[in-house]
Amino acid sequence: MKILVTGGMGFIGSHTVCELLEGGHEVVIVDNLCNSSVSVLDDIQAITHARPVFYQEDIRDKAAMDRIFAENKIDAVIHFAGLKAVGESVRMPLEYYHNNITGTLVLCDAMRKGGCKRIVFSSSATVYGMNNTVPFREDMPTSCTNPYGWTKMMLEQILQDLAVSDPEWSVVLLRYFNPIGAHPSGIIGENPNGIPNNLFPYIARVAAGTLPCLSVFGNDYDTPDGTGVRDYIHVVDLAEGHLKALDWTVANRGVEIVNLGTSRGTSVLELVAAFEKASGVKIPYKITERRPGDIASCYADTEKAARVLGWKAKYNIEDMCRDGWNYTAKGMKK
Ligand code: NAD
Ligand code: UD1
Repeated sequence: MKILVTGGMGFIGSHTVCELLEGGHEVVIVDNLCNSSVSVLDDIQAITHARPVFYQEDIRDKAAMDRIFAENKIDAVIHFAGLKAVGESVRMPLEYYHNNITGTLVLCDAMRKGGCKRIVFSSSATVYGMNNTVPFREDMPTSCTNPYGWTKMMLEQILQDLAVSDPEWSVVLLRYFNPIGAHPSGIIGENPNGIPNNLFPYIARVAAGTLPCLSVFGNDYDTPDGTGVRDYIHVVDLAEGHLKALDWTVANRGVEIVNLGTSRGTSVLELVAAFEKASGVKIPYKITERRPGDIASCYADTEKAARVLGWKAKYNIEDMCRDGWNYTAKGMKK
């Protein structure tokens, strides 16, 4: 199939593009490079020996999106393009709503005009909010506390309304838990600009020596060691989940909401220990205040992903730390 991947130059998008190319699909990427670099195209080619078609465009640009659909017979869309930093979304709500909501509306309109009605969308476990108990199941009530989360909740609603309005649409809303790690080649991975907000890239920078010490945000949560528990998932497993979701859109119409996680919770201190083991580097840390908005535990019920998509994560925390460190260590040698 010919797949349009929005945000295909980013962290999760680039790994998914590699899986698609290796699965024999043709790939067209649209990305405005606001959080990625054009060099990712060479990286994808180095891994897969194939080069996707690339449009450096903003998905909010109606004319550009119509042109992409006119120039390519797209069978399905995987939609990653979006802004994703929680703190930034609180400071810049208009930018977040405009980018994520308007972008998706323009994309869906172009899809409709282009006769393509299959979409796989990047949602987030953030929509489970603060009031559910783990493990999180897809039928639990959703809520959120920041503009980033609201964009995900609103877009889930918009895409469901679209599928109700026109039964030809096939929509999969994938709720990611915490994607980490990197491609086993060490060629692509996550390298955020500035000081990372998320735990895994922060640990990797401390291990690399570019940040002095990790702050562990609270050790008085109701968890086995008091630190926050999350469901970390290898980005390659996550990418494979998208190919399964794509298969679903070919065989079915309507909407499915599916968690992509491992169903295993790992605490901050357990992740630090696993990273130390994988890298052989000691990670200095200090316990600090809780981060506002954080919950104690977040992990997925993955029964639906297995039942509906036939997908299950294969990699464990050791694999995630090994591949994440391999990517960071390669970057240090450049
Ligand atoms: P990323 O920032 O690495 O990738 C997003 C890509 O989209 C970037 O290459 C960026 O340049 C591009 N982009 C953003 N706005 C655009 C626009 N208007 N037009 C064209 N391109 C645009 O992020 P990621 O971690 O790969 O996340 C991908 C998606 O998954 C996002 O929608 C994110 O909200 C969602 N998600 C990510 C996580 C996570 O922990 N990484 C968790 C849950 C959900
Ligand atoms: C965060 C976002 C979430 C988003 C997800 C993926 C918040 C409140 N939540 O989730 O909406 O979908 O990223 O982008 O920002 N931690 C530390 N020290 C650090 C960083 C994190 O102790 O320097 C702890 C956190 O308190 C948490 C765990 O590590 O317990 C994981 O944090 P993080 O990687 O930021 O992910 P989430 O908080 O799950």
